[in-house]
Amino acid sequence: MTARSTADVLGRASGPDAGRVVHRARTLVAPALADAVATLHPWVAGMADYALGREDGPSGPRQGKGVRQALAVLGAELAGAPASEGVPGAVAVELVHTFSLVHDDIMDGDSMRRGRPALWKEYGTGAAVLAGDALFALAVQTVGTAPAAVRRLSAALGDLVHGQADDLLFAHRPWTGPEGVTVEEYERMAERKTGALLGCALALGAHFGGADEETASVLDRTGRHLGVAFQIADDLLGIWGDPRTTGKPVLGDLRQGKKTFPVLAALGTPYGTELSGLLASGDESGAQRAADLVAEAGGREAALADARRHLAAADTLLDSIPSAPRPDAELRALLVALSRRSV
Ligand code: IPE
Ligand code: IPE
Ligand code: MG
Ligand code: MG
Repeated sequence: MTARSTADVLGRASGPDAGRVVHRARTLVAPALADAVATLHPWVAGMADYALGREDGPSGPRQGKGVRQALAVLGAELAGAPASEGVPGAVAVELVHTFSLVHDDIMDGDSMRRGRPALWKEYGTGAAVLAGDALFALAVQTVGTAPAAVRRLSAALGDLVHGQADDLLFAHRPWTGPEGVTVEEYERMAERKTGALLGCALALGAHFGGADEETASVLDRTGRHLGVAFQIADDLLGIWGDPRTTGKPVLGDLRQGKKTFPVLAALGTPYGTELSGLLASGDESGAQRAADLVAEAGGREAALADARRHLAAADTLLDSIPSAPRPDAELRALLVALSRRSV
């Protein structure tokens, strides 16, 4: 073990600043990302730039947080390599993430992303499907032919698709009864749809930084735990977040029947029967009252407790591998910030 626990990082007023860690990675990765996009068909490249928030320049205001590229860069540094070694992995995971959001908004029927029209709203569904495919293909090209890297990226893509399939199917399952979705099923779904790519980001970065396969696998599992915590935080923002900050619609998950963690936790309490009645209505006022009831039933606290549990598991995994001290402390600070969504 080379570094402090997350609790220590939390307690330290002068710990690493997660925002700076993410910013540094974004600046490092931006030129390679631009070079990759420039190889696409010009029309498709324009859509890719829109989806990446790059159309106003490399540091336009519509970019995502850049979490996955930062994890890949930190993965390389944890292995003792310079940050630049993590760049190919960082470009690949950021492209996969962007592809997944472009297609996710079509699947979820969501019109807003990062505070403006989703790509499919701006360019049409057919064009947006194509742009997503192009980003996917570009990501695969970016990792090159190293078997371990290709294996890791394709495994993450497979899991992401599996998780998205479960997420979509769960929306058609009843809220309660024997066919209802369990918290365990949710966790497996979230680990796949969100955790697989976060784990892959860390593992790919470590791989390009020269780490052995065992270390890369521990980092993959670390990122998967982070992913579940991150998805739970996303679920909370989808109910109680401010669309001006998140750039995404609020209450959409409730109206669409999405089986999010806070709702599943609340359904398992004595409030469950009343809550399932409200959720079944599917309208705006029912969704708002359902959100209030989820909070009253303790769904919010239960979700936060589960996110903390996954964060602690990520921390324990990090304790078990040798890593360079500075990136180790930065990664722990990033884990905390991400599960609180404060970057
Ligand atoms: C959103 O991811 C999708 C999820 C996996 C929850 P982010 O919250 O990282 O999205 P951006 O890239 O910052 O917009
Ligand atoms: C996104 O899940 C996960 C992937 C894109 C793979 P969500 O549908 O929960 O994410 P948001 O809330 O639309 O960003
Ligand atoms: Mg969505
Ligand atoms: Mg979705």
